[in-house]
Amino acid sequence: MAIRFNRKYGRTLGVIALSIIVIFLFITTHAVYSNVSNRQSNINHPITSDSIQNNIHATIKKIEPSSDGNLDIVISINMKDIASYLNWFSGEGEATRNNLPATVNVVMHNPKICESRPQLRWLFYVHSAPDNQVKRHNIRATWGSSAHHAPGTTILVFIVGSVDDPGVQRALLEEQQTHGDIVQGDFTDAYKNLTLKAIFGLKWIATYCKNAEFSLKADDDAFVNVFEWMRLAETKAADDYHRFIMCPLWKDNTMPILRDPSKCMKWCVKYSEFPGRQYFPQYCAGLAVLMTREIVAELYTAAIKTPFFWIDDVFLTGIVSAKLKGVHYVDMMSSFTLKEALASENYLDTKSPVRYHVAHVKNFATFRTMWRVLLARRDSRQHIPNAADPPTSRPFFPPRT
Ligand SMILES: *[C@@H]1O[C@H](CO)[C@@H](O)[C@H](O)[C@H]1NC(C)=O
Repeated sequence: MAIRFNRKYGRTLGVIALSIIVIFLFITTHAVYSNVSNRQSNINHPITSDSIQNNIHATIKKIEPSSDGNLDIVISINMKDIASYLNWFSGEGEATRNNLPATVNVVMHNPKICESRPQLRWLFYVHSAPDNQVKRHNIRATWGSSAHHAPGTTILVFIVGSVDDPGVQRALLEEQQTHGDIVQGDFTDAYKNLTLKAIFGLKWIATYCKNAEFSLKADDDAFVNVFEWMRLAETKAADDYHRFIMCPLWKDNTMPILRDPSKCMKWCVKYSEFPGRQYFPQYCAGLAVLMTREIVAELYTAAIKTPFFWIDDVFLTGIVSAKLKGVHYVDMMSSFTLKEALASENYLDTKSPVRYHVAHVKNFATFRTMWRVLLARRDSRQHIPNAADPPTSRPFFPPRT
């Protein structure tokens, strides 16, 4: 495409004309800014909008006086860029076209941990950071423990990335020798790599833990009432659903995409990273997410073909899961809280039903107390299900058809 502009005032004003075009682009597209740095050689100078992913490449082809005393400026703009740019703003919200920054492979794990348990039905897997030894210990001692379930039916593993620090790696190795529940991938453990961790987790399960019917993912500061999650999932499975994701759902267009650098802290999302939307599409609050076996395998296959976005919850349970067919979502939002005090008050108040089945709990003492209270309430049958809970008439471990 060529645009022809005439100006009476010579070459310098040609540059001003160019600026006007740039301002025009800015106004019409909100986000484009242009960086014309090399003003000496305007010919074939590329104009790019580097604030966004799909750059519009424009090139000045010609600036010359014409016979009628005007200045001819010919700018060439690639139509493909324009098309992709318009698509970019259409609001469909596909994240950027970036490929996965790395492939993920196991560096340390116990390959037989699932296979050696023929009765295995439940995998609890926790995204953890190499340093978070105490948090892992906390989970082993509470909701991740297999002591409260039928023997061999549950297993707990921790998904971690790699570290440069040899001291941390040594500690991890020792932890592995004691507990055998660490699954370490070869990607750098960093919050901008959470999506790699998520993909690695799925890959590991799809390869080494195929016999788990349900996989419950949690963060290492999540308090999970596993009994309730298991009951709900078994109820759903008993109704012959084998393709579901159970999690607190942030509904479409409710979670804003944080862009303002003064406010977004470590969750700042550039336009180029997630273009075209102000709010995320529906996704799971990743503190706890339960998936059936079929879904785990399909998510992994779809994830490695999907343009990368670094917020793992949005990537996996918003973008990738939307590509799968026939997925049921079971919304746990009404039993989810990020407020530790609210959760612990609820557990301690034995007159009211346990309401929060997943809570963000950072204080270890609170974490342990909540677990003790939960066990006590279970033993004394004080657990009163939510009114909204499905009926519990089904057998706990229903036979598969
Ligand atoms: C993510 O992991 C890859 C692979 O190890 C690494 O190249 C990259 O630097 C990591 N990203 C961050 C933000 O650390």
